[in-house]
This record gives sequence, C-alpha cells and structure tokens, in this order.
Amino acid sequence: MEDLEVSPAWLQGLHDLNSVIAATGQPLYGNLFYDDQQPDFADRPPNAHTRPKRDRFRAAVAGRTRMLEVGVNGGHSAYLALTSTPDLEFHGVDICEHAYVRPAMARLTQAFPGRVFFYGGDCRTVLPDLAARGLRFDAFHIDGAKHLYFTDVLNSARMIAGDEAVVVVDDTQLKSVAWVWRTCERYGLIETDPAFAPIPGSFHDQNKVGRMRPIPRWKWELLFRLHARVPPVASPAVAGLRQGVSAIRERVRA
Ligand SMILES: C[S@@+](CC[C@H](N)C(=O)[O-])C[C@H]1O[C@@H](n2cnc3c(N)ncnc32)[C@H](O)[C@@H]1O
Repeated sequence: MEDLEVSPAWLQGLHDLNSVIAATGQPLYGNLFYDDQQPDFADRPPNAHTRPKRDRFRAAVAGRTRMLEVGVNGGHSAYLALTSTPDLEFHGVDICEHAYVRPAMARLTQAFPGRVFFYGGDCRTVLPDLAARGLRFDAFHIDGAKHLYFTDVLNSARMIAGDEAVVVVDDTQLKSVAWVWRTCERYGLIETDPAFAPIPGSFHDQNKVGRMRPIPRWKWELLFRLHARVPPVASPAVAGLRQGVSAIRERVRA
C-alpha cells in the first residue's frame, strides 16, 4: 500500500494547511503530527515518534463513511482521515480556543469540497445538538479536553450509525484517560478492538481503538444522570493527587 506520508502531493497538502496555521502567529498545540508548540512545524513532515498513533488512526478509519471528531485543533487528524479514506465525510467540533482552528477548518473545507463540516462550540452542547438533529456516525475520534472524554464518549453513544462504530481515544498513556477507557469498557460503552494491539510502551504517545454499539435509552439516561455532575474522570486536581500518591508509594518502596 502507498505510504501517504512520503507522497509529494500529500506533503504539499499538509504544507498548505500548516501555512494557514502559521499565518495566525499562534503556536500550534498538541496534535497527531507534531509536538506541542513545536517551533518549526510549518515546513516539517510529521514526526516519526507519533507515527504508530497515525497508522492506527488511519487503519481504524479505513472503510468508514462518516466521522465525528471532538477536538480538531489545527485539523491534522482531520487531514489524515480525509486523505486516507477518500469517501469519508468529516465532522469536527472545537471550542476554538486557538486562533488557527477556524482558518484551518476553512482550508480543509476548501480542499475537500462537500466532505468537511465544522461546528464551533463546546462539545457538551454541540454533541447533544447533533444527536437531536439526527446525525449519525460510524467513526469517532475523542481528542478534546481530557476531563470531558467520558461525557464525549457518552454523547457519542447516542449517534452510532447502524450496529457499531469505531472509536479512537487519544492520549491513553495518561492515567486519567486510561481510567476513562477502563470505565467505558466496564459500562459496556466501548469494547477494545483486538485487531489493534497496544502500541509498544517505548512510544510515549498512545491511543486506543475500540468498537461502540448502541446502548438502550434507559442505560444511557442512567449513566448520564450518574455522571452529569461528576464525570468518571480524574479531574486535573484528582489526577495530580493520584500521581502524587503513586510517586510517594514508589519512593517508599525504593
Ligand atoms: C489535542 S487538540 C486536538 C488535536 C487534533 N485532533 C489533531 O490531532 O490534529 C484538542 C482540541 O480540543 C479543543 N477543546 C478543548 N475543550 C473543548 C470543548 N469543551 N469542546 C470542544 N473542543 C474543545 C481544543 O480547542 C483543542 O483544539
């Protein structure tokens, strides 16, 4: 199979997207291609150390028809999905805390006519709105604010097209995110896809791929009511506390 990441046309498309981002003068924050605030991203190919995540993302999206991404940022994962799966329709949500989000999405809308739909706003209101409008998806990428991941998965569970959808959850190397993944498994919201073996621990950046199936309305409402106020995710404060406790335990053991 052709390796897109060395294709001159693909690299040119990436360069075009990067130049729109760079023109805003804002540093580029975390994404599937570059390091957080990497100064020279505009002219660079994607970093090798996040390649396993991109390969899994690409494989997960293959053959899918409509993806919803929570957290589009500079549109890099959107670009990957749109270029690797030519029939895919991409829908992205972002709160637009960075100045380049809208110009980047405008660039992708222009480059992939009729395939890109963008919703600027908070995922906590946009996702329920999309569900109420009857939008359905067979692929989800959960990559917005970490403390909202559980809510995002739960809201996505209302928008599964047909019998199942694929879900990619980013940054599962973080304890708080790994905890969300396990909780979703326990609640029957996500099943790990055995076709996607874990990324070797030597790679710092991790994601997980699973399947979501529709759940009964009563179960959804129960989970929503249970976790509407306190999502089952370690808040930054609780995560910090947990890390502190683990560090102390490790020191005591040493
Ligand atoms: C890690 S970046 C996404 C990277 C992108 N998926 C990529 O790989 O190119 C996270 C994004 O989530 C967005 N975000 C944070 N909180 C959000 C919220 N409450 N609703 C929607 N988007 C949010 C941020 O604005 C940021 O652009």
